[in-house]
Amino acid sequence: MEEMNAMPRIGEKAPEFEAVTTQGKIKFPHDYKNKWVILFSHPSDFTPVCTSEFMTFGKMQKEFEDLNCQLVGLSVDGLYSHIAWLRTIKDKIRYRGMENIEITFPLIDDVTMNVAKKYRMIQPEESQTAAVRAVFFIDPEGVIRAVIYYPLALGRNFDELKRVLIGLQTVDNFKVALPADWRPGDEVIVPTASTAQIAKERMEKQDENMQCYDWFFCTKKLSKEDVESKLGK
Ligand code: BEZ
Repeated sequence: MEEMNAMPRIGEKAPEFEAVTTQGKIKFPHDYKNKWVILFSHPSDFTPVCTSEFMTFGKMQKEFEDLNCQLVGLSVDGLYSHIAWLRTIKDKIRYRGMENIEITFPLIDDVTMNVAKKYRMIQPEESQTAAVRAVFFIDPEGVIRAVIYYPLALGRNFDELKRVLIGLQTVDNFKVALPADWRPGDEVIVPTASTAQIAKERMEKQDENMQCYDWFFCTKKLSKEDVESKLGK
C-alpha cells in the first residue's frame, strides 16, 4: 500500500495546502489568520448522510461565524459535482424543516486526494476511495486544537461540534479546564495546583465560588454571561 501521511495531531500546525473550492482558490491556513476554522471532510457528494450534514452545516453557518469560526468542507469529488450537489440541496431538498439551504462556505475539490491524505481523511480500512467524516478544529494561530473522526455511516453531532468550539475558546480565555459534558454556565475546573502547599491552601480557602472534591479536583463558578462575553475572541 502507498505510504500514508501521519495523522495530524493536536498541538501541531495545520498542514498547509492550496486548493480550488466552490468559493474560489484558497491558501490554507494562511487565508484564515486570526480566525478559528472547522476543516471537515465528507465521503461523497449526492449521498444521504452527507446531504443531511451539509444542510445542518448550512443552517448553523452563521452560529459558527458569530464565534469567529469559518467552515471549510472537503470531499474527493470534483468542483462540478460539488456545484451540482449544492444546487440540488438548495433547490430541491426539504429535510427536517430545513429548506432552501445555500452553502456559501468553501467546499474543496480534492480529486487528487492531496489534502485528504495530508489530513489522514482517507482511512483505507474504512474506505480506499472516500474520505471519512473528519473534523479539525484549528485556532487563529493555525494550530490544530481538537480532532474528531467519524465513520462513513454515522452523521456528526452538530451540537457537540459547537460545544467543542465554545469549550476551546473558553479554555483559552479563562485558563481553565472543563469537566465532562460542560456547557456555558456550568462550573469549570481550576488548574491543578503546582505544589502541595498551594493545594492545601486552596482546600482551606474554599468559598461559595469554589468547591474542592479533593486536593487535585477543584471547581469554580464561571457564569454563562462571562463566557459569552469572550466567545469569538
Ligand atoms: C452517506 O453520506 O449517506 C454515505 C456516504 C458514504 C457511505 C455511506 C453513507
